[in-house]
Amino acid sequence: MKIAIVGAGIVGLTTGAGFADLGHSVHCVDIDTAKIAQLSRGIIPYHEPGLEALVLRNTSAGRLTFGHDPSAIMHEAELVFLAVGTPSEDTGEMSLAALWSVIDRLEPWSATANDSRKIIAIKSTVPIGTAERAESRIRNRLPVHCLVDVVSIPEFMREGCAVRDFFEPTRIVIGTANATTAERLNQMHQRLPGPIMMTDRRSAELAKLAANACLAVKISFANEIAALAEQTGADYPSVAHSLGLDPRIGPHFLAAGLGYGGSCLPKDARALVRMADEAGAPQTIVEAAVRANAMLPLRMVRKLEAALSDPSRRKVALLGLAFKPGTDDIREAPSLRLIAELNRRHPGIAITAYDPEANHAARKVVSSGVTICDSAEEALRGADAAIIVTEWREFRQINAEDFKNWMNRPIIMDGRNALDAAALNAQGVVCIGVGRLPVI
Ligand code: UGA
Repeated sequence: MKIAIVGAGIVGLTTGAGFADLGHSVHCVDIDTAKIAQLSRGIIPYHEPGLEALVLRNTSAGRLTFGHDPSAIMHEAELVFLAVGTPSEDTGEMSLAALWSVIDRLEPWSATANDSRKIIAIKSTVPIGTAERAESRIRNRLPVHCLVDVVSIPEFMREGCAVRDFFEPTRIVIGTANATTAERLNQMHQRLPGPIMMTDRRSAELAKLAANACLAVKISFANEIAALAEQTGADYPSVAHSLGLDPRIGPHFLAAGLGYGGSCLPKDARALVRMADEAGAPQTIVEAAVRANAMLPLRMVRKLEAALSDPSRRKVALLGLAFKPGTDDIREAPSLRLIAELNRRHPGIAITAYDPEANHAARKVVSSGVTICDSAEEALRGADAAIIVTEWREFRQINAEDFKNWMNRPIIMDGRNALDAAALNAQGVVCIGVGRLPVI
């Protein structure tokens, strides 16, 4: 099939390179000319395991090409995936500006003898009803011979495992109103192992929003139970282990810590709440999960205050800035809110920070009061306390002697329960986890 992808973000690029690898001819466009120039030179703008090899293999085989103008894509492509960003507006609503801009620029394509409908598949996470609105918008603007079906094929891939998730999807949800289109899309997804689920467009759109909202709720639930454990002398990791053994609950997304971040969960949960209010079906549970998540950085600062006298005059090291390990993404990362809370409550505090992958991104956004360091050791040297913000594996390899030698006082606030607190405490390092009793 001839496929076009609009939006060379992690989702678009991985999807494009993935389908090229399955033998399709894929043209990937993005209005960011700098990004396209990089991709054309074989430079991948993201830290995403396996993506570079996948892209290079398919560009050199001639199955994957890049461009920056979406207007002409319909001339060639039979199937277009829209994978443009749908960022939050101040109101919590999703901005569809990028999506409409692409839709409104599509040039009419000429009719051919064996003409079949073109398919536009929305991969971006969007409000319910967007595929229908997009289809009407195209039909109103383009000549009648330009037949198009706009479908919803939401994406469930995670950053940091995008390539694996493309080739081993948990499910493929195809929302369409047209039986022929359904069959064509079913066929083209057959080579992927995940179960294929056919549904209508609105259900597919809600399936994606509900999945992210459900994950947000699970994490906030975990964090509130962890806070209860902390206040009452119980050990949250043991509680989570027991919860996870119940197959009705499952073991995933129960890790307590500094909460969820990233470019998806926070934005999608807020958008669902907003949309649901307008639809007259308030999502009080998701709304509470959003509120609970926002409180976690402040909760961490309060715990630091209990462990460290007069933080305004101290030096605190943050280990980890990315919203989760395995990525260089700091969008809506808990680290940013933590830095803001530390500075707000303790003007004069000295903050050092280090992330194995996200230093570059962080240097562009964090305030001048934060010193971004090139190693964990550099960040920890002379610090009065450290906070584990992202559970990168390399932080688990720092041993008690290192903490004691490098730091002014070895106090570790383990915001992800990543370290062996008992072992560190036994060796003279104060390690305070989340949902656990502090051993001081
Ligand atoms: C999320 C979803 O997991 C994907 O299925 C979805 O496709 C994607 O959003 C999207 O909408 O595009 P992602 O943003 O890559 O993927 O991040 P997750 O792996 O879901 O992690 C989200 C946040 O939750 C991270 O900040 C992580 O640290 C936090 N988290 C995760 C916890 O605090 N506790 C947990 O137990 C698990």
